[in-house]
Amino acid sequence: MAVTSAKELFTHELEDIYYAENELLDVLDQLAEQTEHEEIARAFREHREETEGHIDRLEEVFEMLGQEPEEEECEGIQGLIEEHQELVEMDPDPEVLDVANLTAAQKTEHYEIAAYGNLALLADRLGMDEAGDILHENLEEEEAALEKLKDLTSEYDYEPIVAA
Ligand SMILES: [Fe+2]
Ligand SMILES: [Fe+2]
Repeated sequence: MAVTSAKELFTHELEDIYYAENELLDVLDQLAEQTEHEEIARAFREHREETEGHIDRLEEVFEMLGQEPEEEECEGIQGLIEEHQELVEMDPDPEVLDVANLTAAQKTEHYEIAAYGNLALLADRLGMDEAGDILHENLEEEEAALEKLKDLTSEYDYEPIVAA
């Protein structure tokens, strides 16, 4: 699809984040399974549920545009996933993997926050107030998820890692 107008940019960005969110569903499942740490597993599972909600909201925005939901391959998220996969294949100790997983998850949140912040702004500029409000809801949940991940990372007991 050509992207020449702000409206086309909006659609492009919407399709990009729609792809990313769908990819993240599987990733969050894997992250929850890879940890023995109950609180971290719960955080990943809860964010997976929120991610389903993000996808539903994106579908509402597609409907407002009068368009079927479409995915545009998001190389940014794909790259983060591949980078993380390479690390998992290096077979880190469980505690090291926890920290690596929290880091990878934080990186995806930063990506999503940038995407939703700018999508909401574009929606407002295009006079699509309702779509802007919906995108803001996703933005706020991503910001809260990032804070939660940052807390879990800073509270993590590093001692086993440092001792190794
Ligand atoms: Fe999301
Ligand atoms: Fe997220």
